[in-house]
Amino acid sequence: MPDLSGLPAGFLWGAATAAFAIEGDAENRGRSIWDRLCEQPGWIADGSTARVACDHVNRYEGDVRLMRELGLDAYRFSISWPRVQPGGKGPLSAAGLSFYDRLVDRLLEAGVQPWVTQYHWDLPEELQDAGGWAERDIVDRFTDYAVSVHAALGDRVRHWATLNEPWCSAWLGYGSGEHAPGYGDHREAARASHYLLLAHGRAVAAMREQAPADHQLGIVLNLFPFRPDAGVEGADLGRVERAVDRLDGLQNRWWLDALLEGRYPGDLLVLLAGHLADVIEDGDLEEIAQPLDFLGVNYYHDAFLAAAPESDGSEDEEAGPYPGVTGVMPAEARGEETAMGWPVTPDGLRQVLLRVGRDYPTAPPLVVTENGSSWDDEPDDAGPDDAGSDDAGPDDARSDGGSDEQAGDDPRRVDYLYRHVAAVAAAAREGADVRGYFAWSLLDNFEWACGYSQRFGLLRVDFETQERTPRDSFHAYRRLIGAARTAR
Ligand code: FCB
Repeated sequence: MPDLSGLPAGFLWGAATAAFAIEGDAENRGRSIWDRLCEQPGWIADGSTARVACDHVNRYEGDVRLMRELGLDAYRFSISWPRVQPGGKGPLSAAGLSFYDRLVDRLLEAGVQPWVTQYHWDLPEELQDAGGWAERDIVDRFTDYAVSVHAALGDRVRHWATLNEPWCSAWLGYGSGEHAPGYGDHREAARASHYLLLAHGRAVAAMREQAPADHQLGIVLNLFPFRPDAGVEGADLGRVERAVDRLDGLQNRWWLDALLEGRYPGDLLVLLAGHLADVIEDGDLEEIAQPLDFLGVNYYHDAFLAAAPESDGSEDEEAGPYPGVTGVMPAEARGEETAMGWPVTPDGLRQVLLRVGRDYPTAPPLVVTENGSSWDDEPDDAGPDDAGSDDAGPDDARSDGGSDEQAGDDPRRVDYLYRHVAAVAAAAREGADVRGYFAWSLLDNFEWACGYSQRFGLLRVDFETQERTPRDSFHAYRRLIGAARTAR
């Protein structure tokens, strides 16, 4: 069990999901840019779609019961824009909203606080056809949607995040093209980086006007420490350090500086100047830097860079997926890696939380809104028919009797969870103002371009039968939450 000392009273324990990744029921909602991407051969690793996913729209009551069994204080989920406002314009759909109405009611009955994210990547495809996040019109479209959803559910939902990981929407969606809409254009990615922030700011200001005083409004960023790999030396070091600084700028400083200080970093304005002509208007940055009640931090791993062989760093600065980042590549793993190929670097989470407080003294309280890991199922993790494994994993992570004996054995997910929670507590002891932790994810789901081939769930999902089976990590997290509660 990790050392939880230092976490503040009332620290929230949660789990998180995203609408497109779990809901299914695609025939009863509008289409999003991810539906379109899934239909294009070659984009999704296992060729799957999210038309059914976890069938959560039909199974949410059972899922809420599992959340209650887990002992969650809070559940972070997103609203599907094309479900509640098909086409991205006009009045909200009563049928679409009714699902979230019922979900929120069940959560409150179960004693689980709903934390809503308004946009987790599923843009109505009609809005993409009008230019998507790369055109200024999206700012008013998003504000209209966000304000309407807030008005509809705000009588019961107090915690609201506008965007999930806008860096991904901008740079994976429009820059590297790994995510929907699947474009590879630095100019569009740079424009989207601004319009996403402006949409957030305008929506927060408008929601604030109608929000009761106890509503908490925020945004969720994915913050990555970039670092030169330990083996980089000599002439390569300068090149790798420059790339590290640029990636840190595009991924971390761009969003933090704008949101928390109302300015863009000077080096990035120079780097992106050619792409941003006529994009940033007077007053935009004031609008972006709305006071926030929390900043959501998603953290998975540090990113290590090595020098690309046969490069002297003199390549075209616009050639790679990120402007100004040339002659480098992801470093070979030096230690344990998850099934995503992500290094396991829990101390990076401690450092990220401390960095925000240090570099941005006016930052609002932090909440870890996502953290988790994907592992290939152990041979023993075949579900309920495969009971009786002797391979115990961490002692305190299993075997509290009953159905545990039949549950999935996932010692590496338990270890990842414990070490990252320990890192959050360590950050709190060193002064970080961190108020909650949400595990990603409650259940296995559609992992974007990886389809169902990556499994982040505390609950294992059999996608043929839709059966949910608690993994050992589910029980380990339940015990951790119980211990934290006793200590309160
Ligand atoms: C985050 C996303 C989430 C999931 C996890 C693994 O970047 O917000 O939907 O993909 O990574």
